[in-house]
This record gives sequence, C-alpha cells and structure tokens, in this order.
Amino acid sequence: MSEAETRHRIALTVNGIERRAEVPARRLLSDCLRHDLGLTGTHVGCEHGVCGACTVLVGGVAMRSCLLLAVSVDGEQVTTVEGLAGPDGALSPVQQGFADCHGLQCGFCTPGFLTTITAGLAENPDPTPEQARELISGNLCRCTGYQNIVAAVLRAAELGKQAELGKQAELGKQAKA
Ligand code: FES
Ligand code: FES
Repeated sequence: MSEAETRHRIALTVNGIERRAEVPARRLLSDCLRHDLGLTGTHVGCEHGVCGACTVLVGGVAMRSCLLLAVSVDGEQVTTVEGLAGPDGALSPVQQGFADCHGLQCGFCTPGFLTTITAGLAENPDPTPEQARELISGNLCRCTGYQNIVAAVLRAAELGKQAELGKQAELGKQAKA
C-alpha cells in the first residue's frame, strides 16, 4: 500500500458490538475482520468467491466477505462465526449439530458452513435432506464427503425446533404466572 493511499473511516456492528476501522477503499471485508478487528474465525480459502470459507452474515444474509469491500458495509450489522454462540458461550443449534454429527475434520471450512447454515435455517427451519444438501452446495470442504455436514444441518434444525418449543413453553408459563 502506498503511503498516500486514502483511508476511510467505517463503523459497523460486529456480533452486536460497534466496531470502527480506518481502511483503504480496496480493503476486503474478510481482511478487515481478520486483520483490523482481530476476528480470525472468518477463514479465507480462495479469495475468489468460490469456496465459501469466508462467509459471514450481513444483515442476516450469508455473504462472501472476500467479495465485499469493507467500506461497502459501513453502518451494517455483521455476524461472524464468533457471534454465533450465546452470550454465555452456549453453542448455537448449528454449532451443536456439527459437534453431535462430527460435521468437521480439519475445521478450516467450518466457520463458513456454520454461518451459511445459520442463515439457511433462519429461512427454512425444517429442510428436507435434499434441501440440506442444496443449502451447503456453495461451500467447499476438502476433508469430508459432506455426509456428516448434511446430518449436522438436519440435527441443527431439530435442535432449533426444540429450542423454539422450549421458548414458547416458557412464554406460556410466564403468561399464566
Ligand atoms: S475465501 Fe471467500 S469464497 Fe473462498
Ligand atoms: S473440515 Fe477440513 S476443509 Fe472442511
């Protein structure tokens, strides 16, 4: 980078916390997250939008952070893999699904799968096995045959539904109290 390169101030909410950075216009969101904000959970595989390792949620939508400029998300809400667990560290249904079904091996691709599946299940909380396959079809994993990842998606959906039922039962109890 030349000394004279103009830097731009951006402010974005990452995992619920307002963060600021000063970046050149050409800074990728993936690099901004990893190098400027220290959130190294977002992985970079291809930097060409092919592998999905760098997927984060922008306004709840799964997006390749290697294809976005950091300045373009100024003011947005971004969720990285670091933001998926609950405030008490409890694993999200998708994280728990991966743990239960051995959905990862080396884990390099996992953050991108977790964010992609989180967004996918928010849209369709009860996918068929075919839809689960479709959901992960844009993410590459060099270690697995994808079978366990598909199982993890279905398990996450099951856990998500249980959590939803639990919440509703709790609300019902509170309403009666
Ligand atoms: S690093 Fe972004 S899609 Fe591969
Ligand atoms: S678990 Fe190794 S690349 Fe996917």
